[in-house]
Amino acid sequence: MAPATEFAHPEQVGGAYKELLVRLMTRQIYAETATAEVFGKAISVAPNWKEKALAAEFAAEEARHSQGLYDLLLDLGEDPEEIIAGRPDAADFWQLDLDNWLHIAVFNFTVDRAGSHQIMEYRQSSYTPWADSQEEVLADEEDHYDNGVENLKAVAKDPVQLAEFQAIFNSVLPNCVKRAFGRLTGADNDFCLEHGLKRNSTEEIVNRYLTEMRGHMEGTGLVFPPLSAFDAIKCELAPSSREILGSLQAG
Ligand SMILES: [Fe+2]
Ligand SMILES: [Fe+2]
Repeated sequence: MAPATEFAHPEQVGGAYKELLVRLMTRQIYAETATAEVFGKAISVAPNWKEKALAAEFAAEEARHSQGLYDLLLDLGEDPEEIIAGRPDAADFWQLDLDNWLHIAVFNFTVDRAGSHQIMEYRQSSYTPWADSQEEVLADEEDHYDNGVENLKAVAKDPVQLAEFQAIFNSVLPNCVKRAFGRLTGADNDFCLEHGLKRNSTEEIVNRYLTEMRGHMEGTGLVFPPLSAFDAIKCELAPSSREILGSLQAG
């Protein structure tokens, strides 16, 4: 495939390219603003000061990521307030109980990281004002994930907490894979790849995410939800993704 044309200024983009660009940026600003709110709640719900202070720090970082997208959307002539107002409720969208610390811990380990794997695509976007702003975002996200992994390891030491974490994970992960990564194929996907709005296929991105996750789960006792949990909500999965999920199962 020939390298896609890059655009460095908002006035250079239009038509179908701009439409998809705004759609992807909308998806990210939904995730960033929702995550800011989840970490905001986590300040109250976290079990100790160390976690509360981290939650406050992460909430501020997610707010900064949101602001970056807000400004980029303004530059493109969009109304970011209107876009954000159209976002579904975070707790409903991700099926979370935000008064429960373990739900927030599962969220940090699964949903926030799914967002990072999308951002890894955007940092190479052919719309360079967006691409260039995402390095800093990804650096923050590494810290969020490190904390998510640490929390999993702490939870795993207590069989009762681990069982509860597993139950939440069994409903959050299938929903997350379905909602965060979108369809496996289709005209929009092809357009994104052709025009450099994404660099890898949905299948490749999902597999990179699941493989990384499996690396942190091994040895903790946490296993992937049964494949039936993905099928039950009609989460589309490539055979290669099923294979990864099937490689770390209960029993
Ligand atoms: Fe973020
Ligand atoms: Fe994050």
